Amino acid sequence: MPIGAGGPYPRFWATVGRRPARRRPGVIDDYEWPPGERPLRIVVVGKGGAGKSVVAATMARILARRGRRVLALDTDTVPGLALSLGAASAYPPPLAGAVEQADAGSWRLKEGIGPVRAVQRFSTPAPDGVRVLEIGDHSASGVGSVTPSVQAFYQVIHGLPEAKALRAWTMIGDHPAGPRQTAHDWAPYADTLLVIAEPTWKSALTGRRLAELASAREAAAFAVATKVTSSGDAKRVAEIVGLPVAATIPADEAVLESDRLGIALVDHAPSCAAVRAIEQLVDGLVDGTVRSVADR
Ligand SMILES: Nc1ncnc2c1ncn2[C@@H]1O[C@H](COP(=O)(O)OP(=O)(O)O)[C@@H](O)[C@H]1O
Ligand SMILES: [Mg+2]
Repeated sequence: MPIGAGGPYPRFWATVGRRPARRRPGVIDDYEWPPGERPLRIVVVGKGGAGKSVVAATMARILARRGRRVLALDTDTVPGLALSLGAASAYPPPLAGAVEQADAGSWRLKEGIGPVRAVQRFSTPAPDGVRVLEIGDHSASGVGSVTPSVQAFYQVIHGLPEAKALRAWTMIGDHPAGPRQTAHDWAPYADTLLVIAEPTWKSALTGRRLAELASAREAAAFAVATKVTSSGDAKRVAEIVGLPVAATIPADEAVLESDRLGIALVDHAPSCAAVRAIEQLVDGLVDGTVRSVADR
């Protein structure tokens, strides 16, 4: 049975309680970008272990190598993006220095710190000139609270759409597993969601929920089929997730090797099949062919 919009799965609203915020147009939309120059504003979402961090980091590195200014945003309190980029995760979280306690339980950005300054001061470097902004490492903190850093991160990302000085920046966000952050607007800078899904039911059904959130938010959304081993896999992901598949990334031993060695995939195996597939995805998003596929 084809699994369409009227399929047997309950809509996600029942469990999140409210619809996600609509996407706000930002300063990026005030400017007529020459063909192929509009900066990508992307968030990768999906089930844990699907390959989100590998895809986000590899896209970020490829775009930076092409001369784009790239901000990579890790919204996972168990950080993985920095490592996939080939950088160290910053600890203690630098963003904690951006906020002060206004009153019991509430934090605000310090006087004089807006989103642009926060990115300048509190992002950390990764290879090829990529800058990384992290929500803060919960796993390493033991008893320490990540609240100040989390609060700062949320306020900073909500200022990004209007940050004129960052208008030409590519932004690539990496969300933690599952739909919660997507439901609660943790990527206001993103105009495009990439739903990363393995060709398994569990992974693709998580992707389906995320696809529904994307449509409510009025952002473009595409599925990316990962760890693909057979020719029917991408079609299956498209059917279950309910989105067009923008890229098919093969299961590639080089990805696992790079992970074992703790080396960024683009450094370890720059011409492996997985990197080539991610390059094609970047090309399609930059030149707009991925979008036009979805528009048809
Ligand atoms: N295309 C692929 N082929 C083989 N293994 C992959 C591929 N993509 C990701 N992996 C492996 O899957 C695991 C999870 O990847 P990761 O990017 O950390 O996922 P996520 O960020 O979605 O949790 C890692 O061990 C990674 O090496
Ligand atoms: Mg990850």
